[in-house]
Amino acid sequence: MKLLVIGSGGREHALVWKLAQSPHVTRMWCAPGNAGIQQEQTEKTKRPVECVNVGAEDLPGLLAFAQEKKPDLTVVGPDNPLALGIVDLFQRNGLRVWGANRKAAQFESSKAFSQRFMEKYGIPTARSGTFSEPAAARKFAASLGGRCAVKADGLALGKGVLLTTNLAEAEKAIDEIMVGKVFGAAGTKIVIQEFLEGMEISLHALCDGKVAKLFPTAQDHKRALDNNEGLNTGGMGAYSPTPFLTDAQLVDVAKMILDPFLRGCTEEGIDFRGIIYPGVMLTKDEPKVLEFNARFGDPETQVYLTRLENDFVELLDASVNGTLGTMELKWSPLASVCVVMASGGYPGSYAKGKPIHGLDGAARLPNVKVFHAGTARAGEQIVTSGGRVLGVTAWAKDLQAAQSAAYAVVERIKFEGAHFRRDIAAKALG
Ligand code: AMP
Ligand code: GLY
Repeated sequence: MKLLVIGSGGREHALVWKLAQSPHVTRMWCAPGNAGIQQEQTEKTKRPVECVNVGAEDLPGLLAFAQEKKPDLTVVGPDNPLALGIVDLFQRNGLRVWGANRKAAQFESSKAFSQRFMEKYGIPTARSGTFSEPAAARKFAASLGGRCAVKADGLALGKGVLLTTNLAEAEKAIDEIMVGKVFGAAGTKIVIQEFLEGMEISLHALCDGKVAKLFPTAQDHKRALDNNEGLNTGGMGAYSPTPFLTDAQLVDVAKMILDPFLRGCTEEGIDFRGIIYPGVMLTKDEPKVLEFNARFGDPETQVYLTRLENDFVELLDASVNGTLGTMELKWSPLASVCVVMASGGYPGSYAKGKPIHGLDGAARLPNVKVFHAGTARAGEQIVTSGGRVLGVTAWAKDLQAAQSAAYAVVERIKFEGAHFRRDIAAKALG
């Protein structure tokens, strides 16, 4: 099979790495990819993965490329092309593609849609209100004592959520989003949720329009600094499994979320083939869904795919074909930890083009994979080109060993200004 993967982050490097291991794959492209993706090759044919200079949101460019190369399957990583309807576009043009179609992607592209869906189908979530007008929003925020999550309805590069602890902050957040339009048109409508406390985990389930196959638990670390301080980021590290739910509890939680999710999709005429990723807060009362994403988490994917034992191409194929019901997901009993190395200053402004040292040594280590995110090639040198630069991932018999192994590799990799958290997986280790 010939495969095209769309995206350029650490998630896409992990997708490419795992897909390239399948004996079904003879040739692969990635649009636009990164310097690490460019170093991968298909295991069967030993053919380098070819990065092509077409952006993940350039739908006409991607369609033209796919029409020329005729991949047997296109795999879409990021949320934006899904929300823009890349799946529908490719399908209309007779191309096989994996990912949520536009209607299914609404779970992520509209928080108001998700919130209404959760309430209608009885999925446990935070108390909330949806508003298109600031006065009513302020009144609702006051009823919550100002302890809220104020969310722009639309996609805002993962940044459209402001957490507030008092009414003055909540009113400021409402004004910034609705009046100041800090997230642009995404903030025309907002969802306000009550502020929930507890341990936050990531769930993922692969769907084929009829069934949803649950992944093990993972946990991301969204804040920039140790002890969950600093600004929200795309994710500074992840690990799997988490100790916060037993296997039996996980099955119960999944039932509370996925059964009504699938029933709701059927009733609303949503053909969900792709991955659903609910962000869940384990509150002291019960687990509650904070939000849905309609794509793989980043950096959760890096830890999941280093534990997945199935042929990944066969799983995505079954997700597209509607035949997942006959398949069993197999996971390694090993634990996996991914530590993100970011550019100094991220998630604020940061410099690019810093040479990265130590990658070759790291590549020779067993049970370690350094996934690239914001990297580029400058001649013979690999340099930084984004906020999140690398996802240093290690797997071992337990979390403690995986954490030590990941940090041992982080210490070997150097670039000017490198910033990473030192407490990835620490909460799980007590
Ligand atoms: P979202 O994009 O909706 O997941 O929000 C981004 C982050 O904000 C989440 O990962 C949580 O850490 C936090 N968050 C979102 N909603 C809430 C909430 N209702 N209560 C507390 N924290 C929240
Ligand atoms: N892990 C956070 C995200 O992918 O949104």
